[in-house]
Amino acid sequence: MQAFTITESDGLLALVAQSVEPTPRDPDDVLVRIEFSGVNYKDAMVASPHSRVRRVASLVGGVDAAGVIESSTVPELAVGTRVAVHGGDLGVARDGGFAEYVYAPSRFISPLPDALSTRDAMVIGTAGVSAMASVLALEDHGLAHDGEVLVTGSTGGVGSVAVTILATRGYRVVASTGSEHQTDWLIERGASRVIRRDEVGDRLDRVLGTERWSGAVDCVGGETLNQVLRCLRYGGAVAASGLVASADLTTTVYPFITRSVALLGIDVVEAPAATRARVWNALAETLTSAALEPLVDSVVDLAHLAQAIDAIRDGKTRGRILVDPTAG
Ligand SMILES: NC(=O)c1ccc[n+]([C@@H]2O[C@H](COP(=O)([O-])OP(=O)(O)OC[C@H]3O[C@@H](n4cnc5c(N)ncnc54)[C@H](OP(=O)(O)O)[C@@H]3O)[C@@H](O)[C@H]2O)c1
Repeated sequence: MQAFTITESDGLLALVAQSVEPTPRDPDDVLVRIEFSGVNYKDAMVASPHSRVRRVASLVGGVDAAGVIESSTVPELAVGTRVAVHGGDLGVARDGGFAEYVYAPSRFISPLPDALSTRDAMVIGTAGVSAMASVLALEDHGLAHDGEVLVTGSTGGVGSVAVTILATRGYRVVASTGSEHQTDWLIERGASRVIRRDEVGDRLDRVLGTERWSGAVDCVGGETLNQVLRCLRYGGAVAASGLVASADLTTTVYPFITRSVALLGIDVVEAPAATRARVWNALAETLTSAALEPLVDSVVDLAHLAQAIDAIRDGKTRGRILVDPTAG
């Protein structure tokens, strides 16, 4: 099969589209014929020299994929089932989704609801699963409809899907972005207004900012997450899933002890099957192909993946880059 491999040897990184033999790691691994994969920020971290995310010297990249089961000994994952494959060490320490086929353990595999095509599933991707998990966590916490919900990193994978989901579910969405030239696009996705990254917080000379956000979806981390916490309304919450700005968080306890706000941690990589099923069903209920298609930045073949990875690392993408492993 054709695949996109990431190999580091003697400090040199090679990113190459080439022929590779698909190999199961365990006898009960399920074989999936991939129709689409997607490029995530994590793929850029894996495809970096001296990566702290990648755990092997050589592998097929790709932390997610969607396709059709080709062979399986798992009763609930029958041949012909349309599935999404993501999570665990896929594309991090074992061969991933930038290929025509992938072997994966059943716990990484989610059957897709009928309403979602494999292309829809990869427009959503791990980023969109994280976005929906964030929204569900905020709703479980009691997210109010009467205020503004902030989305940071809003032109990215997690952010753009979060804007679309929240707007579709009837929330007033404020999109924060460093890509102000994408303001019209964010409004079209459902944002009620768009602000600059440095407008997330205010009253910077005080311990706490104005109570502005009834909830927030943050995939940026660092100082942005601190500003979100300072400006949550009483009883509000932020769902934190990412670290594109920084993995560090310096803040105070005041938002927690005087405004009773909550910091909700979001992980979909190790999420159990029941959580994944809940998220995929909520995605199918909320999003249509028509709403998802404008989130496609571009569709690339394996030969052009290296450039796509550079673009996402440099923050030059809008929405999601899809990978068609049979194109080219
Ligand atoms: N916890 C989980 O299970 C999980 C799952 C999926 C993803 N993630 C994490 O979520 C994060 C986002 O992933 P993604 O695939 O959505 O990435 P992405 O498509 O690259 O989007 C990230 C967005 O953040 C903004 N941004 C980039 N650099 C920034 C900086 N230095 N400071 C502030 N904002 C910056 C940009 O949006 P604007 O230009 O609009 O500001 C960018 O488009 C990553 O850290 C990823 O690892 C976590």
